Amino acid sequence: MSNSDRFSLSMRLFHWGMAALVLSMVAAGLLMVTSLQPWQLTLLNIHKAFGVMAILLVTARLINRLRHEPPALPHELADWQKTVAKASHWLLYILLFAMPVSGYLMQYFAGRPVDVFGWFRLPAALQVDIHYYALFRELHGWLAVVLIGLIALHIGAALHHHFIRKDDVLKSML
Ligand code: HEM
Repeated sequence: MSNSDRFSLSMRLFHWGMAALVLSMVAAGLLMVTSLQPWQLTLLNIHKAFGVMAILLVTARLINRLRHEPPALPHELADWQKTVAKASHWLLYILLFAMPVSGYLMQYFAGRPVDVFGWFRLPAALQVDIHYYALFRELHGWLAVVLIGLIALHIGAALHHHFIRKDDVLKSML
């Protein structure tokens, strides 16, 4: 496989690094909201700190994506399939950005500053706004549902390319 058929090294590192981060964030989020165990608060603080790191990472990733052209999709794919693939990738980027931003805004309007591993602290509103807090909490939950669905589709499509169509789409990201 030639270099032009593969994603650049930086794109592959961002892809797998963010995949691990986002899957752990989703798992931690779902665990947090379905448990009342004593570790729930610790997990919540870890979730928030890694979530803020996700905002930085996805911003760096978007800049990197705009500077590198991904390899072309297989010629055999119909135009509509290429359009759906590209649209789903951009939707994933939007969600990767909207998830942590909505999480932070939820905390902001709840008047809770976010401490990031003791390195720095993101500010919170001086006055709690319960309506905006509820809005962003609800949004964070619904965006998570869409993100989980889209990740499932994304993984399904990658496996379909690899095992059914037997093309190089998955290999180009390995
Ligand atoms: C990639 C980033 C993130 C992902 C994938 C993610 C994912 C999730 C998920 C799946 C849930 C459970 C939602 C539910 O079922 O109600 C959740 C809850 C939560 N997340 Fe995030 N999150 C991210 C970033 C953040 C950030 C940056 C913050 C705050 C700084 C945050 C704060 C919270 C809080 C406070 C909850 C609990 C909400 C509640 O009590 O209903 N999240 N998150």
